[in-house]
Amino acid sequence: MPVITKRATEIFNQSSPLTSPLESSEFVTGGTAPQAGAGAQLVPLHGGVDEPPAHVAIIMDGNGRWAKSRGLPRIAGHREGSRAVRRTVEAAIESGVRWLTIYAFSSENWRRPVTEILDLTGLLRRYLRTEVAELKQNGVRLRVIGDRTRFDVDIQADIEAAERETAANGRLNLTIALSYGARAEIAAAARAAAAAVSAGILDPGELNEQTFVKFLATAGMPDPDLIIRTSGEQRLSNFLLWKAAYAELVFLNVLWPDFDQSHFAAALAEFSRRERRFGARAD
Ligand code: FPP
Repeated sequence: MPVITKRATEIFNQSSPLTSPLESSEFVTGGTAPQAGAGAQLVPLHGGVDEPPAHVAIIMDGNGRWAKSRGLPRIAGHREGSRAVRRTVEAAIESGVRWLTIYAFSSENWRRPVTEILDLTGLLRRYLRTEVAELKQNGVRLRVIGDRTRFDVDIQADIEAAERETAANGRLNLTIALSYGARAEIAAAARAAAAAVSAGILDPGELNEQTFVKFLATAGMPDPDLIIRTSGEQRLSNFLLWKAAYAELVFLNVLWPDFDQSHFAAALAEFSRRERRFGARAD
């Protein structure tokens, strides 16, 4: 596995970078970064600048625009997007991030033309068949969330095999959201909780935020600390809505196929400058 660029590590470790990567035009918005000079009151509550976020989630956007700008078919953008996934997994490992969740196919993506769906499922099939050995070797545990039953049975079998073969790993927990939608996830959890109540397993009075999350597909996964979206769009698009309640959002002006270790590091650097209060006060 290639080693992450030194620059990436340096960007993350800078507590007061001279030139913030977020000041470049690559970033759409930096959100509410701490004000210069107000540092005395603004103590980061997420553990400080040296600690990477435990869980980074990414909305990979811009494959189509990347291809169009080059006069290429959309599949070329998705194919290059797969390479960016590989780079990102490496960057997450090198940065010490323990959880990485990527939005590869939303429940709404089934509305795309059948040719594009075939291209995307073809890339997924190839990814599952060619990358798992390396994921395994690098200590990555792979999981899939979403309605996998909508994919061809051979892909479902590949997903199961990948999950099984990497189950003992824990260096990086890679979750791929496939045919995933957060509203469907929450509705399914509500159905499961209601069924548990009807079966007499759960007292309705005990249903609260802590017990409800156990019914979510994302149960057991820490809340994302940082959600990155590429391509300049600024939306969550039905991604991890329950878990994203206190996530820091970073929107990057880079198209997903161009995303690399330096963008990942810059997003982590921006995260390290955010003040997280979780509704409390910093003073
Ligand atoms: C959004 O770009 C991206 C997708 C809908 C698919 C993401 C898929 C990959 C990155 C490749 C396959 C992934 C794996 C894990 C093998 P878009 O097509 O909506 O771009 P646009 O907004 O520019 O049209």
